[in-house]
Amino acid sequence: MQLTRLLHIQNPIIQGAMARISTPVLVAAVSNAGGLGVLTTATSTAQSLQADLKAIRASTRKPFGVNLMLQQNNINDLLPVLLADPVPAVFTSAGNPAPFLQNLLNVGTTVIPVIPNVEIAKKMADLGANAVVAEGAESGGHIGTETTMSLVPQVVDAVNIPVIAGGGIGTSAGVKAAFALGAAGVQVGTAFLVAEETPVDQNYKQLVIQASDTGTVVTGTGANRVRSLKTPLTEKLLATTDSKLFQQLSTGSLQRAIDGDTERGSFMAGQIAGAIHEIRPVKAIIAELAKGVPSIIEYLY
Ligand SMILES: Cc1cc2nc3c(=O)[nH]c(=O)nc-3n(C[C@H](O)[C@H](O)[C@H](O)COP(=O)(O)O)c2cc1C
Repeated sequence: MQLTRLLHIQNPIIQGAMARISTPVLVAAVSNAGGLGVLTTATSTAQSLQADLKAIRASTRKPFGVNLMLQQNNINDLLPVLLADPVPAVFTSAGNPAPFLQNLLNVGTTVIPVIPNVEIAKKMADLGANAVVAEGAESGGHIGTETTMSLVPQVVDAVNIPVIAGGGIGTSAGVKAAFALGAAGVQVGTAFLVAEETPVDQNYKQLVIQASDTGTVVTGTGANRVRSLKTPLTEKLLATTDSKLFQQLSTGSLQRAIDGDTERGSFMAGQIAGAIHEIRPVKAIIAELAKGVPSIIEYLY
């Protein structure tokens, strides 16, 4: 099934959730522009989630999504809100949504887990997920180990639900490539970091724009591998073997980046940052990405 039909959106372009960043303003801007905005719940309480849902619905009549990043310790507070007041789509990440996936489906929510490999993709399809996001390690934020180019076609082969490609896609050529690999849509994070509507300090946007192809690094290990722009903080993180110091330097570092602290902030961003050159409205970013979506005729032949 086409992703546009599954999610009732104009363009098969998802704005991937970004912790502390994809707040209602960005979500509504993306959905109003014909993509699907996805709300972060990284710092949400039940009350603030209710308020965010209200704010989004006041700003757009289009569908939107909500992210549940399963490393968060507030999931049990947020789930009842999403079951009582169902949203069009929930994107789960960094964990197993099995305990509540069916409950979300039962209230009519489309459930789309973000997955890092074929084995987990198959598990999610067996559980009844409506689609998956196959996210490669090019992406910004927490990452898996496989690359988008090799992961997407293998996931497409392995499951019978739509596969959304994520990681390293920020241009119309990238979107075209994702469809050539068999994807039904794309999830984009880094390119939206520099949207006019994105609520981060100008320093964050400028660092993304100034980044080159080799401008990001991965810090941390295992489930805590994080890709960010090379900064004084990442140099310190890479230099230390002291896990306590690593923790100290990391705690609160994304918020410091959002506030523009170039010394102590963790400016999460993906490798595609090198291809992103200007601050533009969300509408212009979506219009550019949409140029890479094949027409229905190309789909058929
Ligand atoms: C600053 C930042 C924060 C992110 N936070 C989250 C998050 O909270 N939950 C999540 O599922 N993915 C998160 N991601 C991943 C994005 O949703 C998306 O899948 C990814 O950015 C796609 O790759 P790209 O950065 O190459 O476009 C984040 C990415 C960035 C850049």
